[in-house]
Amino acid sequence: MGAIYKYKKIFLFFLAFACIMMTVLTGQWFIFSKVPINKGYNVSEQMEIRRVLSINQCKDSTNKTVVDIVRKKKDTLFGSKNFLYCPIPKVGSTTWKQILILLKNKCKKCTNVRDVKRVHDILNDYWDSDKFRNMKKVLDRSQKMIIVREPYSRLLSGYINKVFIPVRLVFWENTWKYVERKRPVSHKKCVDFTFPEIVRYVIKAIKTNTMYNAHFDTMSNICKPCEIRYDYILKMETFNVDTMYMLKKLNRSDVYNDTDTLKRDSIVDSITWDINNMFRKDTGKCQSKPEKIRRLWRSFQISGYIGKNVKLPLSKKAEKNISKQELLQIVINATKIKNANNKVNKRLALIEAYSQVPYSDLVQLSEIFQQDCDIFGYDCKPDILFNRTKYPPSTNFLDIWST
Ligand SMILES: *[C@@H]1O[C@H](CO)[C@@H](O)[C@H](O)[C@H]1NC(C)=O
Ligand SMILES: *[C@@H]1O[C@H](CO)[C@@H](O)[C@H](O)[C@H]1NC(C)=O
Ligand SMILES: *[C@@H]1O[C@H](CO)[C@@H](O)[C@H](O)[C@H]1NC(C)=O
Ligand SMILES: *[C@@H]1O[C@H](CO)[C@@H](O)[C@H](O)[C@H]1NC(C)=O
Ligand SMILES: *[C@@H]1O[C@H](CO)[C@@H](O)[C@H](O)[C@H]1NC(C)=O
Ligand SMILES: *[C@@H]1O[C@H](CO)[C@@H](O)[C@H](O)[C@H]1NC(C)=O
Ligand SMILES: *[C@@H]1O[C@H](CO)[C@@H](O)[C@H](O)[C@H]1NC(C)=O
Repeated sequence: MGAIYKYKKIFLFFLAFACIMMTVLTGQWFIFSKVPINKGYNVSEQMEIRRVLSINQCKDSTNKTVVDIVRKKKDTLFGSKNFLYCPIPKVGSTTWKQILILLKNKCKKCTNVRDVKRVHDILNDYWDSDKFRNMKKVLDRSQKMIIVREPYSRLLSGYINKVFIPVRLVFWENTWKYVERKRPVSHKKCVDFTFPEIVRYVIKAIKTNTMYNAHFDTMSNICKPCEIRYDYILKMETFNVDTMYMLKKLNRSDVYNDTDTLKRDSIVDSITWDINNMFRKDTGKCQSKPEKIRRLWRSFQISGYIGKNVKLPLSKKAEKNISKQELLQIVINATKIKNANNKVNKRLALIEAYSQVPYSDLVQLSEIFQQDCDIFGYDCKPDILFNRTKYPPSTNFLDIWST
């Protein structure tokens, strides 16, 4: 009896250890995906599984055709020769827009993606009058690609990047009146919405069909996967591997030939963009410089670029006078700290942020996400967000003054 008891303990220990390692190594995949990623992750096989799943989930679609959709909203799909892409904000769209600029030779001096400056509208000229006239032909002969992401983390990412960090007021001006405020309206017009407020806004805007902000709209609303049959469905959770695969398909492996460079480039690019933005005059109204810096620092931790216990190495006084270049260097240095265990941050931030949302709103949100979950294969009621007793929050990322 004693021996069995002893073995049982060892067995349970290893089981627990294995679970922890799986979660640490795979991040949110282990929790969310119906198809867990592992060493044997076979991209081409997954692409086929995803394509078939999306078709099967779309059996009763509307009568709208791809042509109808693109005629109405040209930037739904654009790309290069025989290749079309539907960009979804916060889902690798910056990197892929940069890649497309290279594919189209739009930047003569660029030899790699790092040389491509972030440009938001440069590709909207895809549908020139010739292509527009022959739209059906172009659509038929083109391979179509979309990149998707687990909806809860996409929404949090939208909140962090469009509300939490110092942002430009102009981004919010049209949306302002739609955000339901339960507390007195401040007349200062500060972008100080909380995450639960944004969740309420999203629920209301989608239910009443008044969502004008693609960052918070559903992926199905943006890219119409039931009408546009995507040949390639890439996932943010496996972005680097999927992107390499796609580049190979496009015969452009020269753009990126290893996942580490791709990953590093997109991190550095994103940090540089946010810091440059922070130093603009019209960014972060109502926030002091130290507050802006702290918000950015936390956002880099939430994104998993910086370890959660890595402290901002600046005194309050130094914060006030810091230059763009210095701050960039400090952040870049912080991303290089080894063993900071930053892979778990995204997951912990997700638990923290959603724990603040009233449970009834969380349930409504899952209904709004249901179509995206069904079509793209995500669990819409993940335990880590829906079982609050089992997964209580353990971080304070969103409380910037906490230590
Ligand atoms: C991946 O899956 C495809 C299609 O199922 C198969 O042909 C290929 O051999 C697999 N590749 C690997 C490395 O297992
Ligand atoms: C689609 O078209 C068919 C026949 O043209 C029609 O009977 C059906 O009601 C339409 N469905 C929708 C959702 O509009
Ligand atoms: C890919 O490139 C090779 C060599 O440059 C060429 O032979 C082949 O036709 C290309 N394939 C496609 C799909 O463009
Ligand atoms: C990868 O690309 C870089 C330049 O973009 C090149 O210098 C390097 O040789 C390539 N490596 C491989 C293995 O193809
Ligand atoms: C602020 O920064 C400038 C230039 O970096 C420096 O000359 C100045 O002494 C600093 N002021 C304080 C109060 O640290
Ligand atoms: C960043 O790291 C480099 C090399 O380790 C060091 O020389 C530099 O002083 C650091 N910069 C800042 C601002 O911490
Ligand atoms: C939540 O997790 C606890 C502890 O693992 C479990 O006992 C409970 O049944 C779960 N609740 C739900 C609603 O799944």
